[in-house]
Amino acid sequence: MIRGYSGAENLTLEDDIEACIIKLLNLIRYRTIGFGKCFGLLNTDEDPDEYIESIHKGLKVSNIQVALGTCNKGFYKMSMLNNSMVEAREKEFNKQKSSGVVQRADMLTSFMKKGLSGDDLKAENTLQIIAGSDTTAGALRGIMLYVVTNPRVYKTLQAEIDNAVASGKAPRAPDIIKSSQVKELKYLQAILKESMRIFPPINNQLARDTPPGGDTVTIDGQEVYLPGGISIIPAFKSMHRNKSVYGEDADVDVFRPERWLEETERLEAMKNDINLGFGHGRWLCLGKAIALREMGIILFELLRNFDWSLDNPEKPWNHAVLMGLHSISDMWVHVEERAELQ
Ligand code: HEM
Repeated sequence: MIRGYSGAENLTLEDDIEACIIKLLNLIRYRTIGFGKCFGLLNTDEDPDEYIESIHKGLKVSNIQVALGTCNKGFYKMSMLNNSMVEAREKEFNKQKSSGVVQRADMLTSFMKKGLSGDDLKAENTLQIIAGSDTTAGALRGIMLYVVTNPRVYKTLQAEIDNAVASGKAPRAPDIIKSSQVKELKYLQAILKESMRIFPPINNQLARDTPPGGDTVTIDGQEVYLPGGISIIPAFKSMHRNKSVYGEDADVDVFRPERWLEETERLEAMKNDINLGFGHGRWLCLGKAIALREMGIILFELLRNFDWSLDNPEKPWNHAVLMGLHSISDMWVHVEERAELQ
């Protein structure tokens, strides 16, 4: 399945992301929205099938049910919608396959080509929606909050964006920047890293149990015995503020993307530290490349096209952590078309 997630067999990935971003920009331009309700369903700016609501309800219900040890029905509506969509795509795929021409080259097609079908295909898709939507949406809201509330960062980023367009390193509007071009924007990339550090999209989750007989692991060259039958949960917020990684004199509680451009010796360790937010080894996030691609392009286009400020800086949003994910609503912003669009 890695070929579907990586884009190797998902040939329309960049175009699909681009199409969604154009819809998002038009939505902001013509209907004026806040970040509280802009994820998905970009055609109508509504949630007619209660799709988003179902995910959020699911997270809330899961939070309680996991604590009580009962089953979870909270995601019902979202997974029913997902199942009917997957069934329709599977029918289409099988029909096209028997005629010898499979027209689409997206992630679902890649999974089906590899033999995933029926309940397995539905389960993979439901997992992907839960794993891929509120993680990335929470991360983006965090990025926007930290950028909008830091005039130095805001100005530096917008200058980098404008320079990239002026020097031909990014296309002129209304064309959308390509992910290969976003990768070259050093300050924007530093912002993505700094946001992962200070506002990790997943918190207090991802427990792993030690084997019943315990285990011995090596940490910083020292052998450490872990007793059996305990759960170990990474605390990203503390790990990402660890002065032994970021420097004894590092201002670890401050949002300062510049640290990623100034550091040399510590840089590798810092990158390894924040990359843990995407899991590690066999648990590595399959959508990491997609998430980074989406976040980079969206951040570029939001700041290239518009100017942003918070409606209520004293209470920028309603925020809760549910099942380790940021559940954010009512992030109301004032958006203005930039006078001299690059
Ligand atoms: C900023 C955004 C994201 C973050 C921080 C993130 C983080 C993670 C983490 C930490 C895991 C490992 C979970 C574990 O150890 O149990 C994971 C797994 C996963 N993620 Fe992401 N993720 C993000 C976006 C996405 C996106 C956009 C997709 C899909 C398009 C996605 C798909 C998945 C899948 C399918 C898994 C399960 C992999 C497996 O089966 O082992 N993620 N993610």
